[in-house]
Amino acid sequence: MQIKDYQAARKVLQSIGQEHLLAFWEELNEQQREHLLEQIRQLDIRKIPHWVRDTVKNQTPLAIPTVFEPAPSYPPTPQTPEQAEKYARARRMGEKLLAEGKVAGFVVAGGQGTRLGFDGPKGNFPISPIKKKTLFQVFGESVLAARKKYGSVLPWLIMTSPLNHQATVETFEANDYFGLGADTVFIFQQGTMPNFDFEGRIFLADKDTIAVSPDGHGGSLKALYVSGVLDELKRRGIEYLSYWQVDNPLVHLFDPLFIGLHVLDGAQMSSKALIKAHPTEKVGNFCLVNGRVTVIEYSDLPDEAAHRRRPDGSLVFELGSIAIHIISREFVERLNKDGNFALPLHRAVKKIPHIDLSGKKIEPNKPCGIKLETFIFDALPLAEKSVILQTIRSEEFAPVKNASGEDSPEVTVRMMIERAAAWLEKAGVKVPRTKDGKVDCILEIAPSFALTAEDVKAKVGQIPPLHPGDTVYLE
Ligand code: UD1
Repeated sequence: MQIKDYQAARKVLQSIGQEHLLAFWEELNEQQREHLLEQIRQLDIRKIPHWVRDTVKNQTPLAIPTVFEPAPSYPPTPQTPEQAEKYARARRMGEKLLAEGKVAGFVVAGGQGTRLGFDGPKGNFPISPIKKKTLFQVFGESVLAARKKYGSVLPWLIMTSPLNHQATVETFEANDYFGLGADTVFIFQQGTMPNFDFEGRIFLADKDTIAVSPDGHGGSLKALYVSGVLDELKRRGIEYLSYWQVDNPLVHLFDPLFIGLHVLDGAQMSSKALIKAHPTEKVGNFCLVNGRVTVIEYSDLPDEAAHRRRPDGSLVFELGSIAIHIISREFVERLNKDGNFALPLHRAVKKIPHIDLSGKKIEPNKPCGIKLETFIFDALPLAEKSVILQTIRSEEFAPVKNASGEDSPEVTVRMMIERAAAWLEKAGVKVPRTKDGKVDCILEIAPSFALTAEDVKAKVGQIPPLHPGDTVYLE
């Protein structure tokens, strides 16, 4: 939007009821004025009144479809000879695409991580059981190991937000891009959305600064395009993005079976799923709406549907979303080239630091306004075809979200040790366990040693005998 000066800004803001953003103009110096004007230029003036009416002031949750059924999925392991043949074909296809360097890893890491109470990018959180490697280091080493395994350059994309971009770049520079080479690692920022009070007025964070927050992981689809990363990937021959969240160190970054099923079935966006631990576990539910895969958040799924069971006792809506996807590059391009592309906005009531009308800084101790976000899984219904592959929790999902209790670092570390033990045992190694079956030593498998249980089998001769209480790092 062309907003040259104060007068122009005032006129535009008045037209949408947001002229209070200029309330402190007289007190600002030239530099601060330009700073404020630049942020006003970034606002989506045309859409703000709609956001205020439909989402900020409207407390009704997004309408959920009236007719929905469970989405079909592939089981973690094949159940019939035909399926076994298809899985084998898919795996070969995935391995070929990886060897040809047609896949990029993509981690979304723009969130604030407030629940964990960790200062700085969540990717800097130390998580591995023995070496205390950070989440970023675990992923970085995994990308490197996958490059060696497949003999190709698999780029790595990291989406940040203005909250943590600089700190993330510094981390990568300080760690020499985890040995990957700066020219194959893309760190780019997602967009932001203004924060509103309950009446729909945009907050000022300071006299010259509009209060904004990251636009949700759904913003990644736009950020890939706007940043130019998508074009660069096309130039480099990348066809598929393997997407994961920064909080899950167990993720299989490049899963040939998952990639292969996505491609064989002609899908545009695919997902991994878990069988939910209980009916109301706090994960999105995979459903089918008008023939399209759709995620209905746990908070929106009617209780009756959440608890409905099949005759064998299993849940009808049993598939939970764990935010692991394969996304075709062309799908992201297509969405962005369609000028009307916008994911639904979700409303979150939050504590938002701001200044009041007298310019006083307010650090609220209770929620005082609305943040708006978009979610990546809302893009699923835009895909004509979407594959869901079930995975096993202990093998692939241990997110670090809370400082203590469920999804805490303590649980994640334990699951990392347990997975390492399971991989060793699968390879025939004797792992000491207590009487009640708990792993009785501390284990850490470096990505350079193994990315999967099969990789361990090939190196079984290098593993020392394990004794109760041992601390063993395999690299
Ligand atoms: C999310 C999913 C949930 C899923 C769970 C799996 C939503 C609404 N829910 O929950 O269905 O079962 O993960 O762990 O997403 N992020 C950004 N930019 C943002 C916001 C978030 O990059 O603006 C990134 C975070 O850095 C993180 C990921 O997205 O990597 C998840 O964000 P978070 O808000 O922690 O999601 P959850 O509520 O835990």
